[in-house]
Amino acid sequence: MSEQREHWKSKAGFILAAAGSAIGLGNIWKFPYIAGENGGAAFIFIYLICIALIGLPVLIAEVLLGRSTQRNPVGAFKKLSGKPFWIMIGSMGVIAGFVILSFYTVIAGWSIGYIVEALKGSFSQFSDPGISSSYFEELTGNVNWIVGYHTLFSILTMWVVYAGINKGIEQGSKIMMPVLFFLLVLLVIRGITLPGAEKGLAFLWSPDWSKISGQSVLIALGHAFFTISLGMGAMMTYGSYLSEKDNIPSASLQIVFLDTFIALLAGVAIFTAVFAMGQDPASGPGLIFVTLPVVFAKMPGGVIWAVLFFLLLTLAALTSAISLLEVVVAYFVDERKWKRHKAVMVFGFVVFLVGIPSALSFNVMKDVHFFGKTWFDNADYLASNILLPGGGLFISIFVGWIWGFDKVLIDLKKGSESLFTKYPMIIQAWRIFLRYLSPVMIMIVFLHSVGLLESAMHQLRTSWVMISLVCGLLYLFIQSRKK
Ligand code: PHE
Repeated sequence: MSEQREHWKSKAGFILAAAGSAIGLGNIWKFPYIAGENGGAAFIFIYLICIALIGLPVLIAEVLLGRSTQRNPVGAFKKLSGKPFWIMIGSMGVIAGFVILSFYTVIAGWSIGYIVEALKGSFSQFSDPGISSSYFEELTGNVNWIVGYHTLFSILTMWVVYAGINKGIEQGSKIMMPVLFFLLVLLVIRGITLPGAEKGLAFLWSPDWSKISGQSVLIALGHAFFTISLGMGAMMTYGSYLSEKDNIPSASLQIVFLDTFIALLAGVAIFTAVFAMGQDPASGPGLIFVTLPVVFAKMPGGVIWAVLFFLLLTLAALTSAISLLEVVVAYFVDERKWKRHKAVMVFGFVVFLVGIPSALSFNVMKDVHFFGKTWFDNADYLASNILLPGGGLFISIFVGWIWGFDKVLIDLKKGSESLFTKYPMIIQAWRIFLRYLSPVMIMIVFLHSVGLLESAMHQLRTSWVMISLVCGLLYLFIQSRKK
């Protein structure tokens, strides 16, 4: 308790930092390729519904939990409930921060590596995706290259978090977010002025409903969590540096709006260029690192556009990575009374070490599989499909059912009284979404992914892990309600 808890200097500082957390690889790397694989416009429509009906209500709940308790996820649940079950849910968030950051820094590292490759003119030889794809495999197959950039990106992340909330995260986001936006606008203008860009726009805006299946709805929901940084306490931790005069619903709306807007702009920038250069929009995770370099090779002034694009991706990833590390650091500072600097150095390094097997999953550990997947894929799967939706489920249940809605309302109204006097139904809608819609939807996601896994033998083991996990959590939850 010796150090005073820092607070955001301004509401804009909070919004930019939180939007920085939300806007990341999820928006610029993942969103365009999953939209591309799932048929474009119709998928985007479903994704927008998930964001509005589930993402926004859960975001408000998370930020509120942080602000009311002024703590990291573990401390927040400790303060409000004290029951081991809920403390464990908070710990799951801190673990998720670890897991996501460990593989996030690997991909973000590629992005820095690609800035260097673009500057070296490596992309100019990419006449077709085949060449680009073997070049990508050659780079990621090189241990020094991949671990080197993973190290560099980890150091950058630690550097910002080391400087603290105001001088590091807030100041950094205030500089990086406008630059990111500016770069993206340039890339959008470049994209839409290319001959043939209309085909890309048509792909994004004219829905083909036949492409939508149950599976695409689940992907959309899972991505809604990942892209708003929900379910693991990043937004809770950022909310814990907020003061009572700030309006949480309006700040949350702005964060969700910025995140969605940037994802859509990234989609426009990427698909106009991809279609104009006659490339495949559904090329999966390689869309950014394999297809786009070919697009840049064919484009006039491609080197510059490539540098700007990968700079944009790096900045977006950095403002997200710092929020992931901050969750872990805040836990050690609040709960274990560590000094921030020590926590950053120690856990920055530990996360870096845990990330190494993820980096090696593309080369020496390519064939080392656990539960049928590489280390990297397991880390991604564990975080995106289990920890985040699981966290989201229990955060909704906690705020909707357990905390006590009268107390929730007293806290939520701080800073937003006039909004609720004007539109009282907002509260009712929020409550219904948190109590019913969000838990039910997330449960469906869980059950469905379990069902899917049953199809293959080697994946069956994973589903047992998931079934036991879900049953175990439910059991603990029921126990915790008994007293
Ligand atoms: N929202 C980030 C992205 O879109 C990822 C992230 C998830 C960051 C969870 C923090 C917490 O890339």
